[in-house]
Amino acid sequence: MDIEKVDRILEEHEYRHSAIIGIMQDVQDIENYLPEETLRYISDKLELNLTKIFDVATFYKAFSLVPRGRHTIKVCCGTACHLAGAARNLDQVERTLHIKAEETTDDRMFSIETVNCLGACALAPVVVVDEDYYDAVKPGKIEKILSYYRSESER
Ligand code: FES
Repeated sequence: MDIEKVDRILEEHEYRHSAIIGIMQDVQDIENYLPEETLRYISDKLELNLTKIFDVATFYKAFSLVPRGRHTIKVCCGTACHLAGAARNLDQVERTLHIKAEETTDDRMFSIETVNCLGACALAPVVVVDEDYYDAVKPGKIEKILSYYRSESER
């Protein structure tokens, strides 16, 4: 990880322990995950116990300690989405990308996550890619949705 960027983030947050969540969010934005060596560096610089930093990193689902793809596909498997066919959508995403839920493609383009409810039950079944919501998704739409992000990355 670019350690100069990490230093800048720490400066912006004035090395405050109370800003640890914001610091970790900004650091995660650099490579879309939190490498262990970077957390050790932050721990040293802030003189903050590494265990506390790991506690935060593991408590919030938004943080990842393993490399994630450039695009995150969230397949909602909450009750409304489950009843509307979420399992078929998840299966289609997994088969299209050749990975399972909670995994990342080798080229680090996509990660798949399952979530329990995205608060949009009326639109079930819902799939979210990064910040984009797709409603009433059918398995046949998955390839088209993913190809948009593939081609966007090539631009
Ligand atoms: S169950 Fe999927 S949005 Fe609520």
